[in-house]
Amino acid sequence: MDSSPASYQIIADLLEARTGQHLTESRRWRVPTALSGVFREHGISNVDQLVCLLDLPMRTPGKPDLSQQVVEALLNNETYFFRDRPTFEQLPADILPDLAERRADTKRLSIWCAGCSTGQEVHSIAMMIADARERWRDWTIEILGTDVSHRAINAARNGVYSQFEVQRGLGVAQMLQHFEETSQGWQVKGETLKHSRFQQHNVLDLPPSHQRFDLILCRNVLLYFDLDTRKRAFARLASALADDGYLMLGAGETVVGQTTDFAPVAKRASIYQNVRQAERQNVFAA
Ligand SMILES: C[S@@+](CC[C@H](N)C(=O)[O-])C[C@H]1O[C@@H](n2cnc3c(N)ncnc32)[C@H](O)[C@@H]1O
Repeated sequence: MDSSPASYQIIADLLEARTGQHLTESRRWRVPTALSGVFREHGISNVDQLVCLLDLPMRTPGKPDLSQQVVEALLNNETYFFRDRPTFEQLPADILPDLAERRADTKRLSIWCAGCSTGQEVHSIAMMIADARERWRDWTIEILGTDVSHRAINAARNGVYSQFEVQRGLGVAQMLQHFEETSQGWQVKGETLKHSRFQQHNVLDLPPSHQRFDLILCRNVLLYFDLDTRKRAFARLASALADDGYLMLGAGETVVGQTTDFAPVAKRASIYQNVRQAERQNVFAA
C-alpha cells in the first residue's frame, strides 16, 4: 500500500456508512485499482491525497460529489443476464405460477430486485414475462429495480448494453428477440421494458414502496455486509415482502444463522419465505 492505513480506514468507513459494505483489511489492496478513474479525473495519485480532498466542497453541477464517486467506484457491480440460470429458471417453472394462482383475484404482481446493479436481473425477469405473454395477458406486473449506485441505476434505466455484456447469459435468439442494435449498443426493446422501473435506493433504508412485494430478489448484495448489517437488511426485506411472498438470494448465500425472519422453502434452491409461511408450505411439500 502506498498510503497510510489511516487513510484506507477513512475510505472503508465512508463505504460502510453509505452502503453497509464492509471492506475487510484483506480486500483493501484492490482500493487503488478500483479508484484509478477517480484519481485520474481529480489529478491525484494515491489514497492519502484523496482523503485530503474529501473534506473539500467539490460539488460540480450535474456530477456526484467526490465521496459519492469514491463509494460508487468501490462497489462491486458484477452481474449478467440470467445469472445462476438453474436458480433463475425456478421462477417461470414454479414460483411465478404459484404466485399467479395466489393472485388470481387481483391479477397484480409486484417484484423487487434489490441491488440490481446495471439492470440485467430486472431485464431477465421482464424477458420471462414477455416470453409468456399469453399467460400474463390482463395482468398488471411491476418490476422495480433498485441499487445504491446512481451510476448503475442510470445504466439500468437506459437498458443499453455492449456486445460483450449482452452476450453474457443470453443466447442469440433471446438477444435478437428482446434487443435491437443501435449506435450506442444493444437496447432492450420497449415491449420488454414496459413493466420495469428503476430507482436509487439503499436496502438498509425503509423499503421503496408501502405496498408489499410478492417476490423479492436480493442476490449477491449482502455478501459484504457484516452479520449485524445483514440482519438489518433481512429485517427490511421481511417488512417489504407479502406474507405469502418469496425471497430469492444468490446461489452462494443463505439465511441460516443470519436471520429468524426467513426459512428455506423445501426442494427449492436459494428460495425463502417468511418463517410461518415456509413451515406451512414445507408440510405440503413433504
Ligand atoms: C454484485 S452486484 C449483484 C447484482 C445482481 N443482484 C446480481 O446478482 O447479478 C451487487 C450490487 O449491490 C449493490 N449494493 C451494494 N450495497 C447496497 C445497498 N446497501 N443497497 C442497495 N444496493 C447495494 C451494488 O451497488 C451492486 O450493484
